[in-house]
Amino acid sequence: MSARIIDGKAIAAQVMAEVAREVADLRARGVVPGLAVILVGDDPASASYVRGKRKACEELGMRSETVHLPAHTTQSQLLNTIEELCTAGWAHGLLVQLPLPGHIDEKVIIEAIPPSMDVDGFHPVNRGRLTSGEDTFVPCTPAGIQELLLRSGYDPEGRHVVIVGRSQIVGLPLAILLAQKRAGANATVTICHSRTRNLAEVTKTADILVAAIGSPATIRAEMVRAGTVVIDVGVNRVEDPSSPKGYRLVGDVDFAAVSQVAAAITPVPGGVGPMTIAMLMKNTLKAAKASLAGH
Ligand code: GUN
Repeated sequence: MSARIIDGKAIAAQVMAEVAREVADLRARGVVPGLAVILVGDDPASASYVRGKRKACEELGMRSETVHLPAHTTQSQLLNTIEELCTAGWAHGLLVQLPLPGHIDEKVIIEAIPPSMDVDGFHPVNRGRLTSGEDTFVPCTPAGIQELLLRSGYDPEGRHVVIVGRSQIVGLPLAILLAQKRAGANATVTICHSRTRNLAEVTKTADILVAAIGSPATIRAEMVRAGTVVIDVGVNRVEDPSSPKGYRLVGDVDFAAVSQVAAAITPVPGGVGPMTIAMLMKNTLKAAKASLAGH
């Protein structure tokens, strides 16, 4: 049997259309939602993500500005750029693309972003709010995964969600989000990681299995029970001389094999990725709406 392919691109397009309507309403009231993005250095994957974010803003009629700083930028120069963008006044959301060069302390940078502009949801204040079940900016990839599940008919309520990966950006906040006592969540959540014993035994108990590991084809068919819904967060570049770019993107899941046992599966690309950007747009809209309410 072959799994249903969950079309993240199509579902993200629905979210984008909803956001576009609200952006048009705000613009009619004289507010143009704005997103400032800072990219430090020349990592090709980061540059590609940042281009995707700018393109999405343009598509929606939001203002977007990318500040591209060289890899040797100092921490204090980066802090100054954040300060400048905050005081310029046009931006409602601000994000610094990660990872940063090794000489810059990511924690210091994230904490310099005002929580009200932190559309990534990475500031400790926003993490705390999420953990407390308060209204906040939910990190975009976890928010996108929840939306993808709900809109494709897989409500996590009462289900066993097994998350492989405990990163601050995906695994950990997703676990908190899906365990919340509220509609669209209420899941039983297990987090697995590099020290988990008998990983396959745990992953085989999942109703919904989320792979957020960061290494290609790590989830194999024998780790997945028939009927599981598989969400693949991985975006790994693997060499492919037959591709014009010299590489292709693969997920953390062995797609060909796992799609023979799973009930449903997200592809890479075209699964979680487009949802992440759509949720960033939604968070930027939320920041713009909040600024309106504050005046
Ligand atoms: N690097 C990988 N994912 C993300 C993200 O969601 N936001 C930022 N700022 N950097 C990232």
